[in-house]
Amino acid sequence: MESVEQLLERLAAGVIRDSIGADAPANVRPCGNPKFGDYQVNGILPIAKARGENPRPLAEKVAAALAAALADLAEPPTVAGAGFINIKLKPGFVASRLPAVLADPRLGVPAASPVRTIALDFSAPNVAKTMHVGHLRSTIIGDSIARTLRFLGHRVITDNHIGDWGTQFGFILSGFKKIGPAAKHMLGGQELSIGQIEQIYRKNFEDAEKDPVVREAAKMELVKLQSGDPDTVDLWKRVCDHSILAANKLYKRLRVEFDHTFGESFYHPMLEAVVAELKAKGVAENSEGAVCVFFPDIPQLKDKPFLIKKSDGAFLYATTDLATIKYRVEAWQPGEIIYVTDSRQKLHFQQLFETARRWGHPDIRLAHVTFGSVLGEDNKPIKTRSGEPIKLEQLLNEAEKRALEIVEAQNADLPAETKREIARVVGLGAVKYADLSQNRINDYVFSWPKMLAMQGNTAPYLQYAYVRIRSIFRKGAESGASSMDGKSVVLNDPAEFDLAKFLLRFPEAIELATEDYRPNFICSYLYDLACKFSVFYERCPVLKADEPARASRLLLCQLTAEVLRKGLDLLGIQTIEQM
Ligand code: ARG
Repeated sequence: MESVEQLLERLAAGVIRDSIGADAPANVRPCGNPKFGDYQVNGILPIAKARGENPRPLAEKVAAALAAALADLAEPPTVAGAGFINIKLKPGFVASRLPAVLADPRLGVPAASPVRTIALDFSAPNVAKTMHVGHLRSTIIGDSIARTLRFLGHRVITDNHIGDWGTQFGFILSGFKKIGPAAKHMLGGQELSIGQIEQIYRKNFEDAEKDPVVREAAKMELVKLQSGDPDTVDLWKRVCDHSILAANKLYKRLRVEFDHTFGESFYHPMLEAVVAELKAKGVAENSEGAVCVFFPDIPQLKDKPFLIKKSDGAFLYATTDLATIKYRVEAWQPGEIIYVTDSRQKLHFQQLFETARRWGHPDIRLAHVTFGSVLGEDNKPIKTRSGEPIKLEQLLNEAEKRALEIVEAQNADLPAETKREIARVVGLGAVKYADLSQNRINDYVFSWPKMLAMQGNTAPYLQYAYVRIRSIFRKGAESGASSMDGKSVVLNDPAEFDLAKFLLRFPEAIELATEDYRPNFICSYLYDLACKFSVFYERCPVLKADEPARASRLLLCQLTAEVLRKGLDLLGIQTIEQM
C-alpha cells in the first residue's frame, strides 16, 4: 500500500512536470508546523536554483495546478516562505483510507522495494563472561532493527558473532587444567556458573601479570588449542557450550532469536588464506614482521594501520572480521552488513570497512550502528555497589520485581499467575523501551522510577494505552469495526481528525527508524500516538456516541490499538490485555 507521503509525492511530481515542465522529485515531507499544513512540497527550491529563477512564482504556479489535482485529497495548497507548498488533508480523504489501513496486515506501511538481503551482526558477547548490562544495548537495538527490516519485507539474516576464540582462552583453559580432571565434570553438570568460569579466567589473568610461569602456561594452552590438540579443544568446547547455554536462557527471556551463532572460532581455519589473499591483492603488506593494511589516502586513518597478523604469527579480531565478511558474502550475497556495537569500536570498523572496499566488495553497504553507555544515577557507567557491572539476569529480575509491585498496587485482585505475567511483560518492556527510546548514540541514565512510570514516554504508558482500548472493546463486547467502509467513517471532531491523520503516518515513522537504524523514531511516534489518543478519548465518547460516530470512533480505537501493538512488537515489546 502506498503511504500518504508517497501518494502526494507521486501526484505532486506529476503536477510539477505538467505545470512548470520540470522532471524533478516533489520532495514531500511532513510539514514542520501543523498549523500551516500536514505535508510540505520542498522540491521547488532546487528547481528554481537550477534555473536561476525566483522560486516563489514557480511555487504559485505549481500550487494552483496542485489545487485541481488534489481536489479530493486536500484543501487548496498554500505557498509559504521562499517557495514551499503546504498541503492540508481533507477529513473525507483521511476517512476513506482508514478502513483499508486497518484491513492491511502491514497497517499501511509499504512493502520494501527492492527487497534487500541484509546480514545483521549483534549482541555478540564474549564467551566465559557473564552477560551484563553492557550487552543489553546491542542485543535489543539489534533485535529491533531485525524486526523492523523484516516487517518491511527485507531478507534479514541475524548472526550472533560471539567471542569464542582468542587469548582469553589461554587463561581459562590453563585455569581449568589446574583443577584437573574434575574440570570436565564441572562443565558437564549444572553446578558451575558462568560467574565461576569468569573467576577462573580473572584469577589466572591477574596471576599471569605477576608470574611468568602462569603466563607461559596460558600461552601454551592457547598454542595447543590453536593447533587442535584434542583434549584442549574438548575442554574449550565445553566452556563455550556452557556459556552459550547460559546466554540462550537470557535471549529466551528477552525474546531475541538468531539465525546463526557462528562465533569467531568458526572462521579460525580461514584466517591464513584471508591474509594471503589480501597480500596477493596488494591490500595488505608485511611490516616489521607483521602484516598490516595501510591507508595513506585517508586522512583520519593515515597513521592508523590495520594489524591483521602479528609478528608472532597470531591473528586478531580484525582478521576474523575480514574472514567473516568473505564468508557472509559467499554464503548469503548480502547487499548490506550491519554491525551493532558500542561506539568504542568505531576505529576498528572504519578500518575494517575501508579494507573490505579495497579487497573488492565496493558495492556492499557496510554499516556500523553505534551506541553510548548505560550510566548510573551518578552519570558514570552503571555498576553494582561493589563496582562490578550489573548482571543482565539480575537486572531483568529486578525489573519484574518492581513491575509486580506496581501491578499489586493497581490490580491486587487478579490471580497471582496473571499478575506475574503482567509484571514480566511490563518489566521487560520498561527496560527495553528506556533503552530504545533514546537516540542510540548518546549515553543514557538508567533509572527504575523513570522507566516504570505510568506517565510520559515509557513502555508502561504505551502498554496501558493499549489496555485501555482493549477494555473499551470488552465493555462494548464489540468485535471491532473492520467491516466499515470509508464512506461511513466521520471525522467531525478536531481530536478525531487529528488522531486519524496521525494513524496514517505510521509508515513515516518506520521509514525514519530504518533510514539510519534509529528505533527511537518508532518510540516517539508511538508516544505521540498515545497522547493523541488520550486527547481524543477525553473529548469524544465512543460507546455512548450515536451512529455513525460510534462505529467510526471504534474504528479509530481499533486502529490505534493495532498500531500500538505492532509498533511495540517492532521494539521487541509485548502487550497485555489488562494491567
Ligand atoms: N565480541 C565483541 C565484543 O564483545 C563484539 C563483536 C561484534 N561483531 C563483530 N563482527 N566484530 O566487543
